[in-house]
Amino acid sequence: MNAPRSLLWLALLPLACTRPTSPDPNRPWSTPERAILASLTPLPLLPPSPGNRVADNPVAVNLGQALFFDTGLSANGEVACASCHDPQKWFTDGLPLAHGVGQAGRNAPTLLGAQWLPYLFHDGRKDSLWAQALGPLEADVEHGYDRLALAHRIARHYRQPYEQLFGPLPPLDDLMRFPPHARPVPFESNHPHHVAWLAMREADRLAVNTVLANVGKALEAYERKLQPREAPFDRYARKLLAGDPKAAQEIPEAAQRGLRDFIGRAQCVNCHNGPLFTDKGFHNLGLPPLPQQNGVDVGRALGAQSVKADDFRCGSVYSDTARCEELRFLNPRFEDFMGAFKTPTLRNVARTAPYMHTGQFATLDDVLAFYRTLPGNARVGHRELVLTLLDPAVSQADLVAFLQTLTGPLPDAQWLHPPQPIPPPDAVTMAAP
Ligand code: HEC
Ligand code: HEC
Repeated sequence: MNAPRSLLWLALLPLACTRPTSPDPNRPWSTPERAILASLTPLPLLPPSPGNRVADNPVAVNLGQALFFDTGLSANGEVACASCHDPQKWFTDGLPLAHGVGQAGRNAPTLLGAQWLPYLFHDGRKDSLWAQALGPLEADVEHGYDRLALAHRIARHYRQPYEQLFGPLPPLDDLMRFPPHARPVPFESNHPHHVAWLAMREADRLAVNTVLANVGKALEAYERKLQPREAPFDRYARKLLAGDPKAAQEIPEAAQRGLRDFIGRAQCVNCHNGPLFTDKGFHNLGLPPLPQQNGVDVGRALGAQSVKADDFRCGSVYSDTARCEELRFLNPRFEDFMGAFKTPTLRNVARTAPYMHTGQFATLDDVLAFYRTLPGNARVGHRELVLTLLDPAVSQADLVAFLQTLTGPLPDAQWLHPPQPIPPPDAVTMAAP
């Protein structure tokens, strides 16, 4: 999918690949280098949301913000989106592997910049922020919640903004038709929630799914406010490209050298390109296996199949659009998807440790030590061919100094906490069905 863009970078790279020593920070930037710099900044405008007509509606933003911080939306009354996407930690949790109602198997990525990604999750198994949000709500190890409990809680605590946005809720008071707890539970056909779900009328299931999708749409409206902000790198590049002699004061000399290497002989920009420092594509880096890992994670190979089959994908009955170009051209059988994971944004990366979908690297130095040695072989598929050993002449400290210049301030303070008033917790969060 990303082949044409990657090839463009390859064509530009040899110009900077052969110098054996530290780049001279005083050497003027060449024309091809300036072209790459201009492609990395400024941040682009927010794209329209695929299939969410309330994505920019202020009532939806407010509702989504309340839901994002609401621990009542969980099996134990303790887990909210903000538990794992903590605003003070740049919307991550600081843990190698996330922990909610149970132990998750992957690292929680930042939400800053996710608005531009056509595919969400490390394996891209969702194609919009609104469809993504429905996953954690019902995942056993995250919120462990269910869509009927969710619909009842919306009716109790959020009826007014919900109905203002989406019209009347179904007649949830009728507990014969809408039991307190029910959801489809994949691979567990005798789970009580699954049995209760199948016992419902089809039209009622559709109505509850619509509530679930609308909750995702409100969450997305809030998440769209969580954008990365201008970092020292942006100011440096903007001034440099404008010919301002004061540009060099914006970032340290080491970072300037690191930037030259990042777009030059270190070849990072092959994959970490564009203003978010991601090609939005999926690559197999051949990471060393985790000690506790049994089995293999095929990553994008499964994610691409899942997104095509997802009930809430673009163009589904819950989607407000039928125009779904991304999904139409996605080929889940693409060989290089085996063992591949999404290229993460590098904006604010110095604040979002630990790293990789496995959270296995504690520091940026650990990440670079990996790129320097590329130990072992990929456990599944093969290591991406454009990934070559980091040139030993490249200074690791310079690269880290550059990565640190990608940290901008947190989003505006109004987005970092629940809006007022906060909905009360339920007396009994998860009574047996
Ligand atoms: C238990 C911790 C936990 C909770 C609670 C949680 N998340 Fe996440 N989140 C994760 C993990 C882990 C991933 C990556 C999972 C994967 O790729 O398989 C993730 C991925 C995401 C992504 C994808 C970002 C990207 O770059 O692809 C978004 C968006 C997101 N979560 C939003 C939410 C929202 C909204 C909620 C609340 C409804 C939520 N999360 C609740 C841990 C959590
Ligand atoms: C072949 C494409 C490719 C190249 C080249 C590449 N990366 Fe990456 N990078 C990735 C992918 C894919 C991941 C995520 C892998 C995962 O989660 O399993 C990643 C992860 C990272 C992370 C961790 C970010 C996080 O939030 O977890 C950092 C930091 C990073 N790369 C920096 C660099 C630097 C610096 C270079 C140049 C030396 C570089 N990368 C070269 C594709 C690439």
